[in-house]
Amino acid sequence: MEEERKGAIDIDSVRVTFTARGEIVEAVSNVDMHVKPGEFVSIIGPSGCGKSTLLNIVAGFVKPTSGSALFDGVPIRGPGSDRGVVFQQYSLFPWLSVRKNVEFGLKMKGTPASQRETQARTLLGLAGLLAFENHYPDQLSGGMKQRVGIVRALATSPQVLLMDEPFGALDAQTRAVMQEILTNMWQQFQISVLFVTHDIEESIFLSDRIYVMTARPGRIKAEITVPLPRPRTPEMTYTPEFIGLVQQLKALIREESLAAMGSELKEGGLSGFGIEVGPRGVEEVV
Ligand SMILES: Nc1ncnc2c1ncn2[C@@H]1O[C@H](COP(=O)(O)OP(=O)(O)OP(=O)(O)O)[C@@H](O)[C@H]1O
Ligand SMILES: [Mg+2]
Repeated sequence: MEEERKGAIDIDSVRVTFTARGEIVEAVSNVDMHVKPGEFVSIIGPSGCGKSTLLNIVAGFVKPTSGSALFDGVPIRGPGSDRGVVFQQYSLFPWLSVRKNVEFGLKMKGTPASQRETQARTLLGLAGLLAFENHYPDQLSGGMKQRVGIVRALATSPQVLLMDEPFGALDAQTRAVMQEILTNMWQQFQISVLFVTHDIEESIFLSDRIYVMTARPGRIKAEITVPLPRPRTPEMTYTPEFIGLVQQLKALIREESLAAMGSELKEGGLSGFGIEVGPRGVEEVV
């Protein structure tokens, strides 16, 4: 019998508030978000709309104030090796070699040393990093460090990869190569991915589905299915379908960025210029 596919995320009616300097900040409000086993889903939205907060709920680092967050049908109570996390900043241990970094999660799980080494070397080979297994993180380029970060997150055989702007610090060329490496690995491992990015083209190139969020407090503004076939190729980015999706997403994001900036500007940002900003925010003055 075929093994049951795992990696389902079910976020229902989730609200998160934080208390900062005595004030209650509503970060996300009434969010429903679903990822099916094996699906690649992205979240985009203006800065501060709660993208990282949602990812951190699934990772088990943040608890919803209300609503429910399930992973494979079970309430999320904390971090676990069934969910691999990759952040924007390279979070490798500088005092460990590349291979020891990859082995770290397996060591925590109690995997015997010889098995750890074999698993780490197999994964490093797939990511084209075997020649660097004995290097230390500060001897690697940014793209290589982030590849090690992905391999490390995959080492414990998670059912989902949670990625928070993982390529944000990379140059455009390296980023494009990383996107191809990630889609290849995702297809080989058949796991789910929940991916946060600011980059509209990146979200389309990688995803099956994209959630667009409103300005804070973040709610789901739109859910877009990407109808492009797999495997994705760089040439697809020149097709009318791709360009149409870019335009659709840009329009949605622009509205929200203006709304977000408008409230900040109304709080005094433009007063020094003698500009009146009404309820429609900066959209009225630009
Ligand atoms: N631990 C915390 N304590 C207080 N406020 C927080 C905390 N974490 C997040 N916030 C606030 O919640 C809101 C959402 O933050 P979050 O980091 O999820 O946004 P984001 O969409 O990831 O933004 P960015 O695109 O800039 O990374 C912001 O207003 C942020 O200041
Ligand atoms: Mg963030």
